[in-house]
Amino acid sequence: MQIRHADPDRDAAACVEIYRPFVIDSAVSFDISVPSVAEFTAKIAQLSQTHAFLVADDGGTVAGYAYSGPYRERAAYRWSAEVSVYVHPVYRGRGVGRRLYDALLALMRAQGMRTAIAGVTQPNPASMALHHSCGFRTVGVFERVGYKAGAWRDVAFLSLDLAPELDPLASPPEPRAEVRLGD
Ligand SMILES: CC(C)(COP(=O)(O)OP(=O)(O)OC[C@H]1O[C@@H](n2cnc3c(N)ncnc32)[C@H](O)[C@@H]1OP(=O)(O)O)[C@@H](O)C(=O)NCCC(=O)NCCS
Repeated sequence: MQIRHADPDRDAAACVEIYRPFVIDSAVSFDISVPSVAEFTAKIAQLSQTHAFLVADDGGTVAGYAYSGPYRERAAYRWSAEVSVYVHPVYRGRGVGRRLYDALLALMRAQGMRTAIAGVTQPNPASMALHHSCGFRTVGVFERVGYKAGAWRDVAFLSLDLAPELDPLASPPEPRAEVRLGD
């Protein structure tokens, strides 16, 4: 199993297939229509330019993916990024999510990101366990912030300090998305 940067053209179709059930059948994703392969190709390309999009590659099969993207648009938020991870059902519970996040979070640190944020529709014990295992702490729950799959949904927000050693008064360097895995 190799964790590598996603190739927009090569990996988008497999990522859409992993993502599809969470759009159609569940409230894990708040999307209500499945993105086309072209839309997902553009999403991978865009996030790769500004943040990071990784896949777990098992001999040419995409076992899962994880990415970071903007948390909020206003400029002072640019050291914070929202992260997300999806693993194909066949590969779940085998450490793939953890490997994806370990690589993603290390890359975000190298890029100069300060805080990783995740929103998890409740309940989702697997996702909560993965995030807590990676050091995230739950900071709160937004109640009834989405209506999906026939019910109002609560979303827990979790955060991870990627650089606790930073001097809180020092000016941070600009985040650098061009830093790649292994640099
Ligand atoms: C959440 C998800 C990404 C976890 O990936 P995974 O590869 O199955 O998880 P891992 O095998 O790497 O396990 C990571 C940790 O979570 C725990 N975990 C995994 N599945 C679990 C489950 N069903 N219930 C409780 N804990 C679970 C593991 O024990 C492990 O904990 P540890 O590090 O303390 O030993 C995966 O279940 C998934 O794709 N779920 C559907 C999509 C989703 O919910 N994505 C997150 C959106 S916020």
